[in-house]
Amino acid sequence: MTIKPLIILPDPVLRQVSKPIERIDADLKRLADDMLETMYDAPGIGLAAIQVGVPRRILVIDVSREGEEKQPQVFINPKIVKSSDERSVYEEGCLSIPDYYAEVERPATVSVEYLDRDGKEQTVEADGLLATCLQHEIDHLNGVLFIDYISRLKREMVIKKFTKAAKSAKAL
Ligand code: NI
Repeated sequence: MTIKPLIILPDPVLRQVSKPIERIDADLKRLADDMLETMYDAPGIGLAAIQVGVPRRILVIDVSREGEEKQPQVFINPKIVKSSDERSVYEEGCLSIPDYYAEVERPATVSVEYLDRDGKEQTVEADGLLATCLQHEIDHLNGVLFIDYISRLKREMVIKKFTKAAKSAKAL
């Protein structure tokens, strides 16, 4: 397994819309394993393929708590088929926007249809942290970032900060 470099804001790659996966083969399973490795190394609780520069509709999540057994989950072509009217607020972060956190309000529960790592059709009724994490990661597949839900002023400040950081990194 390989830890892959993460794509960081403001890289325009993060705004690409990812394409559906047509075949679950050894290459795709390797990508899923690399994504899990990259996510655990960061560390994070969710990662979409676009964050390692692959514009395909696959994401990995592990919302197990520290000290608990790991629960790696792979979601291929995930689709939200139902969202609750009830909303919940979580402080979100993103491996592509390191060290920045903000509260985001989203539907509290969602039903998601997807294929698992073996290509089997699955449906999950998610609530709590998993519901938020799934929505955050599925947004990535559509080129949407959690900072799109915060105020324009705050978003512009974050983008400016990361643009500046990227420029000075390039100058080195
Ligand atoms: Ni993210």
